[in-house]
Amino acid sequence: MKLLADRAKIPLPESDDPREKERTKLRQQVQDINRIAARFFYEALRSGQGEAAAEYLRKRGITGDTVRKFGLGYSYDGWDNLYEHLKSQGISDEAMLASGLVIKGSSGRLFDRFRGRLMFPIFDIRGTVIGFGGRVLDDSLPKYMNSPETVLYNKRKHLYALNFAKNNGGDQIIVVEGYMDAISLHQHGITNVVASLGTALTDSQARLLKKYTDEVIISYDADTAGQAATLRGLETLSDAGCDVRVLTLPEGRDPDDYVREYGADKFRWLANNALPLVEYKIRVIRKQHDLSATGEKIKFLSRAADVLVKVENALEREMYIKKLAREYEVSEEAMHSEVIRRTRPAAVRRTKMSKTVGTAGKLISAAESPKEKIIHGERFVLSLLCVDNSIYDVVKEHFKIGDYVGEENNRIAGIIYGRIEEGSGVSPAELMNIVSDGESGIFARILNDECHCDDNEKAILGKIRDIELMKTEMRRDQIIDLLKNKSRLSENEVDKLESELRELIQELKRIKENPEYGKERRGRR
Ligand code: CTP
Ligand code: MN
Repeated sequence: MKLLADRAKIPLPESDDPREKERTKLRQQVQDINRIAARFFYEALRSGQGEAAAEYLRKRGITGDTVRKFGLGYSYDGWDNLYEHLKSQGISDEAMLASGLVIKGSSGRLFDRFRGRLMFPIFDIRGTVIGFGGRVLDDSLPKYMNSPETVLYNKRKHLYALNFAKNNGGDQIIVVEGYMDAISLHQHGITNVVASLGTALTDSQARLLKKYTDEVIISYDADTAGQAATLRGLETLSDAGCDVRVLTLPEGRDPDDYVREYGADKFRWLANNALPLVEYKIRVIRKQHDLSATGEKIKFLSRAADVLVKVENALEREMYIKKLAREYEVSEEAMHSEVIRRTRPAAVRRTKMSKTVGTAGKLISAAESPKEKIIHGERFVLSLLCVDNSIYDVVKEHFKIGDYVGEENNRIAGIIYGRIEEGSGVSPAELMNIVSDGESGIFARILNDECHCDDNEKAILGKIRDIELMKTEMRRDQIIDLLKNKSRLSENEVDKLESELRELIQELKRIKENPEYGKERRGRR
């Protein structure tokens, strides 16, 4: 919004909250520091002291054009070259520390985080420098150091080189692990490449990628690619709606080695022939079983069925079933029935996982579990509270901090309640700043679609009643579940649970019979 408003020269209303103003100011300061530092590192690479780093880049085949495009640089080997430079530009110690480029020693002295390293500025999507990575010039450890989390940088939310790749994506984006992999591929003309910087892909990164492409090709080192954390990341990507394929390089090679040795065309060929995620997962599983033993073969095929049951497209699922049956010499019918058998238990398993929720054996999917419904209702309460601060008393009466079933809702409520108590109030726009990125879409939808009530107090009381009802039912089901296993409980516990159950059933009756439940309860207190 800020970018668009600046472009259109429309002043954006600013928050009156001093903390938000402070944060905005700090972000701007850190942005300035990063720009100055990037230039300082870049120039150092051209200086006499940077000669070793320049030589290292030459040795790795990096051209001058690439150095310019990626803004590569060098951090001097001294203790505080950058610190002194920033100071000479009038930057405060406090702002430097916030940028993460300078750290405080135990004696209180400030010194540079990056020393004697090849420097990689990390850009956000618009090309602003938000952080840095620094590589040693030899084999010493740690090989890489990165900016810590700052007001600008969160490694879980960004993808290196996306600012370059976003316009070259076309049909697909290739994800590699390292700075050098991304840079090297770009230099070889493969410009639809981003790097995840050595961590498993997160939900935010998946959604970010999905904005620019529908198809993602993963090209990790062979050993990281099969790791559980990596696979979970790929699953996240696929859940975000991307078509995911996995490119496997020969053992011991990374994309940088490969493209330098075999060239861009060979790499492109591998990318075009990358395996769909499902096939890749099955291949990973297959490697874990010795298929010459019958028992192992059965285990492998059952685990393969676990994978196939998640393939939503029926035609695609059929195809894989056929293929597996043929390849491992079992009948198609048997393979098929294994997959089908798993469709129902999968739902049961999910219910079990949220056992505390207690569902009295009902089959429900996680998406619409009672707990989720309650959490969603709470979000409405918080949203409406920001639309109309005057309902605060009613809300506070029913929801103390800690009462919210959603942990995140407790955090949000803590901030909102605080502001209202201080007298500064809180608006829907500020709510959007308070909620986490992952939930901002949900809250925006609630504010847009649900928060236009004729009578806010009535609406909030209605919702409170719904939530109380759901909570009570949830606890009731939980107790019924517990009582199913009486042998595990002591007599005393059984008595307690049974008396709680009776009370809950009474309470449910009261709520259901009284449309003004919330109000009535307020009066009672
Ligand atoms: N990484 C890191 N800290 C480390 C090691 C790795 O942050 N101690 C991250 C870096 O972002 C790195 C990526 O993980 O780029 C992949 O690691 P690796 O494959 O070891 O690095 P390369 O980019 O291949 O580096 P190089 O080719 O220079 O060895
Ligand atoms: Mn490498």
